[in-house]
Amino acid sequence: MDIAVAADHAGFEVKNRIAQMLRDQGHTVLDYGTCDETPVDYPQYGYVVGEAVASGQAERGIVVCGSSLGIAIAANKVPGVRCAAVFEPLMTELARQHNDANMIALSERLTGWEMLVRLVDVFLKTPAEGGRHAYRVQQLFEYTDAQRARTLKAIEAGQVTDAKTPDDLVKAPV
Ligand code: RB5
Repeated sequence: MDIAVAADHAGFEVKNRIAQMLRDQGHTVLDYGTCDETPVDYPQYGYVVGEAVASGQAERGIVVCGSSLGIAIAANKVPGVRCAAVFEPLMTELARQHNDANMIALSERLTGWEMLVRLVDVFLKTPAEGGRHAYRVQQLFEYTDAQRARTLKAIEAGQVTDAKTPDDLVKAPV
């Protein structure tokens, strides 16, 4: 599998170890850095892996920062990315089965190496379930440009006038 990886200065050691592990397993790794402790800005590293995945250059992406959170938030700004910040195996499995996550974000500061190895393994081996989950995953990308423009205008005006109410929500098929 072609896998893109990146980290900020708080995650590069784990990112390097994961990259080596993946190469040893026969994967092709696209490593977008960073490679030392010089402070860098995590959004840029989330974006670049997101773009690699969304464009099809990589099938999956793995990003690492101190907490996993900032770099996950950044990656999820890229259209087509579904990046889950994961800490334990079941949530990683569910991120694949229910959310068809194409990226995971990991924490160097909060998660130990053995757990990280398990999370990467589950992420790469678990298939997406499809079915009713596919319908929901599809909705994640149905926020159109027109809707975005309306929302931005409403936010500027201090009120999202066309915000949905609970009654507006369409019942999902069983
Ligand atoms: C860097 O100190 C830290 O803020 C970053 O790695 C990450 O945890 C942000 O969410």
